[in-house]
Amino acid sequence: MNATGVPMQTTELRSKLNPNKALWEKGDFTRIAETMRESGEALVAKFGITKGLKVLDLGCGDGTTAIPAAKRGADVLGVDIAANLVAAGNKRAEDFGLGNCRFQEGDACDMKGVPDRSFDLVVSIFGAMFAPKPFDAAKEMVRVTRPGGRIVMGNWIPNDPTFVAQVLNVSSAFTPPPPEGFVSPMTWGVESSVTERFLAAGVPAAKISFARDTFTFNFSGTPEDFVGQFKNYYGPAMNAFEAAEKSGRTADLQAQLEHLFKAQNKSSRKDTTSIPATFLRVAVAL
Ligand SMILES: C[S@@+](CC[C@H](N)C(=O)[O-])C[C@H]1O[C@@H](n2cnc3c(N)ncnc32)[C@H](O)[C@@H]1O
Repeated sequence: MNATGVPMQTTELRSKLNPNKALWEKGDFTRIAETMRESGEALVAKFGITKGLKVLDLGCGDGTTAIPAAKRGADVLGVDIAANLVAAGNKRAEDFGLGNCRFQEGDACDMKGVPDRSFDLVVSIFGAMFAPKPFDAAKEMVRVTRPGGRIVMGNWIPNDPTFVAQVLNVSSAFTPPPPEGFVSPMTWGVESSVTERFLAAGVPAAKISFARDTFTFNFSGTPEDFVGQFKNYYGPAMNAFEAAEKSGRTADLQAQLEHLFKAQNKSSRKDTTSIPATFLRVAVAL
């Protein structure tokens, strides 16, 4: 039963029981993803997509990388734990008339129903890094990739001085400590941790390579307005604001984020914000 005494719907109940799912269904990541489309397209352009290539986009959100991959002719499945983002992705695919792109709910730690060795390319851009069991996520990505196929991950880097790592740093300083045993998603930005996880999944180290890359967030509004988007729609920032409210530190959190967004903004126009963020690009050849 929920607060109003009405029996909970299955989706609502599943979210209650799974904090990972609840975090990403909490806001509306589409409002942030809309600022990431250009970089999503640019990244996909590097993947060498050919017509009919079977692509899995894991932790796909509403399809920042899945949709451009489908536009290039790939046969794309997007898997995400958040029901609202899966619905948004399917709506976007339909709006673009992409019959070769579909989205379904699933957990990177246990992709039930996704057959072994079924994809040429598994992409996870700031997606699987947020799954709570990193060794299971690595094993699952390897399981569903065909021999000769590839995995590409994009992962934020801990303590990197650029945008997202700093947003998460500031947010976590205002949020209560995570439960015992919690593995920080940012460990996916550490080469030795990534290697350890894929080694455990049976991939030799020589097949794993790393590069630094950049995603730029382009927002039509001021940096202060962009902070508002994070405050209202980005799960980790929403949690930080809720915790800050309880401890009377909302103004402090707001000020820290506004300072960060303004300091990192590269736009020369007053009414737009453009913020680059460095990430670790991981390539695994199977
Ligand atoms: C930062 S967003 C990135 C979304 C998308 N890849 C993009 O670049 O726009 C993180 C995504 O990972 C998804 N996610 C988090 N944990 C997951 C899990 N265990 N399994 C599948 N998806 C997950 C979230 O729901 C969210 O859509």
